[in-house]
Amino acid sequence: MIEVSEIYKNLPGLETPRLTLRKVTMGDLEDMFAYSSDEEVTRFLRWGPHRAVEETESYIREVMREYKEGKDGPWGIEYKETGRMVGSIHLMAISAQHSKAQIGFVLSRSYWNRGLMSEALTRVLEYSFESIGLNRIEGFCLVDNRAGIRVMEKSGMKQEGVLREYLFQKGTFRDFGVYSMLKRDYEGGRAAGQVMVGRGREALAPTTELPCQLCARAAWGAKNDTCCR
Ligand SMILES: CC(C)(COP(=O)(O)OP(=O)(O)OC[C@H]1O[C@@H](n2cnc3c(N)ncnc32)[C@H](O)[C@@H]1OP(=O)(O)O)[C@@H](O)C(=O)NCCC(=O)NCCS
Repeated sequence: MIEVSEIYKNLPGLETPRLTLRKVTMGDLEDMFAYSSDEEVTRFLRWGPHRAVEETESYIREVMREYKEGKDGPWGIEYKETGRMVGSIHLMAISAQHSKAQIGFVLSRSYWNRGLMSEALTRVLEYSFESIGLNRIEGFCLVDNRAGIRVMEKSGMKQEGVLREYLFQKGTFRDFGVYSMLKRDYEGGRAAGQVMVGRGREALAPTTELPCQLCARAAWGAKNDTCCR
């Protein structure tokens, strides 16, 4: 596996049909503040909304320091058509020992529901398994956050369960769904032609058929949508 500090120091540019994933720079301040200050965008997140541009500025400074030190740092998501930075996607907590990492993502509201984050996540999963050589990517998502869950499902991640009252977030204890993809899932999906970068929705990985951990009925997004959520 590549040295973790090298991954962040040399975070590579990744291309998808509509997006360029690349390091965040101070030139992104205006675009990043626009979505980070949007209450609707940050509703399900642990942070935000940013109340002043200085908050975003200090976050970008921290990110730039982290790249430099090889400690952490997200990809900024640039929308090719306009050259604007429309969100970010983050491979966090990379563990060389356990060969795993955690995914996080956020997108500006005016770009929602066009398949952009699924496109970005699919590319990051590909990079994680093929270039870094990780064995497991996991994602934690508030159970109410249907869009966040759907993005992970569409990218082929599987629901593992629900962590009940896992975090005290924005004034209340919140349940989080746990999602993951293993290298062997990824390779199985590839073999079955389900990798979707640059392809249409018909090529998407099927949604998980695991039962919901709370009501034991069909999972979110399953055809027979009878889950308690
Ligand atoms: C989650 C987020 C990144 C999704 O980005 P996106 O580019 O709109 O995602 P996609 O277009 O690839 O997919 C969204 C899917 O969620 C579905 N969706 C959106 N809102 C939904 C809702 N309220 N209920 C059910 N499904 C919903 C869409 O219909 C789409 O599924 P489909 O393609 O099967 O129709 C974006 O909504 C966002 O930034 N939200 C705020 C930050 C956040 O929640 N991050 C994730 C933390 S786990």
